Amino acid sequence: EVVDGGGRVLLPGFVDLHTHLREPGREDTETIESGSAAAALGGYTAVFAMANTSPVADSAVVTDHVYRRGQEVGLVDVHPVGAVTVGLQGEKLAEMGMMAAGPGRVRVFSDDGVCVSDPLLMRRALEYSASLGVVIAQHAEEPRLTKGAVAHEGPEAARLGLTGWPRAAEEAIVARDALLARDAGARVHICHASTAGTVELLKWAKGQGVAITAEVTPHHLLLDDSRLATYDAVNRVNPPLREASDVAALRKALRDGVIDCVATDHAPHADQDKCCEFAAARPGMLGLETALAIVAQVSVETGDLTWRDVARVMSEKPAEIARLDDQGRPIGVGEPANLTLVDPDLGWTVRADELASRSRNTPFADLSFRAKPVLTVLRGRITARDGVTARPGTEVRA
Ligand code: DOR
Ligand code: ZN
Ligand code: ZN
Repeated sequence: EVVDGGGRVLLPGFVDLHTHLREPGREDTETIESGSAAAALGGYTAVFAMANTSPVADSAVVTDHVYRRGQEVGLVDVHPVGAVTVGLQGEKLAEMGMMAAGPGRVRVFSDDGVCVSDPLLMRRALEYSASLGVVIAQHAEEPRLTKGAVAHEGPEAARLGLTGWPRAAEEAIVARDALLARDAGARVHICHASTAGTVELLKWAKGQGVAITAEVTPHHLLLDDSRLATYDAVNRVNPPLREASDVAALRKALRDGVIDCVATDHAPHADQDKCCEFAAARPGMLGLETALAIVAQVSVETGDLTWRDVARVMSEKPAEIARLDDQGRPIGVGEPANLTLVDPDLGWTVRADELASRSRNTPFADLSFRAKPVLTVLRGRITARDGVTARPGTEVRA
């Protein structure tokens, strides 16, 4: 079948380094199947499924299962992320080597949700990861500085009487891990960078030759803490929405390449975990189905990035950070490709109840955007087209 792409933008399939699929354990909020559908609709051909599931993905038993289930569904390549420690924030390093060697071929390790906060343990984890050639993705949060914190520490939180999460809680870990990675000769990746200070530290560390990379989420590129005024728990997320000056610094860092890529931190939660008081709600928001529209709005439509740059931050860089081309051969000329066709001028409005995700916790509900992925192709096979996914587990030929 020949698809007429008239007037649209053809990009390499998007790669999300940071997705929470909730399977195993919270299948009421997302499954590998529903999350894969959301990913395909969002233009993704690969996602990295975070390890904070139940049970935690801290052994090859879990990571291999997640990988196999993703292959069965067949809408997107699901790459399991392995936990760094046994149990999140555990005291013992997980068998990263076993997870890397299994069929799931784990290439990214993270305790996301919590920080690997003990410096000695992080140092040993980085040494181990360097010997395996894998990367550790760090949720940068010094927990002793964020106890009880539910929002960015600033005038907005003070006004609302919410306990604040200081920027220093993130920046202290970014600085520490840059130094530890340097000493270990390891690669470290900073999850969801959220402050202007983190951008400065990344610049400094990269300038020193440290193998450090970073991602920014669509929500931290679009929203700031003025959102808190509504008290709506949908805006509770870790790290929290920061100030407008941070948002500006993050956008500039993405443009300048100081921040390497966009990752969604797609974090589905049940209605009952989001309907309560702000401080009692679980942190996190949906991301997969709205990421491209937001990136286009804050970067392409402002003139900050070209579509060529979008290919870099949504696909090429994340694939490089995870060393995806090491998981089999890179796709060569004449072989079936991973592609996303974007309509830059479609014009659409996000409707929470029309999302493929099992959860509804999007802060972008009823907002309108211009750009949208309209066709996603995984190894030559159409996985999503005009808002409809291929049936999971079926063969659909492009
Ligand atoms: O907001 C967040 N939600 N931040 C995290 O680090 C974890 C995630 C989740 O798993 O819900
Ligand atoms: Zn995190
Ligand atoms: Zn996360």
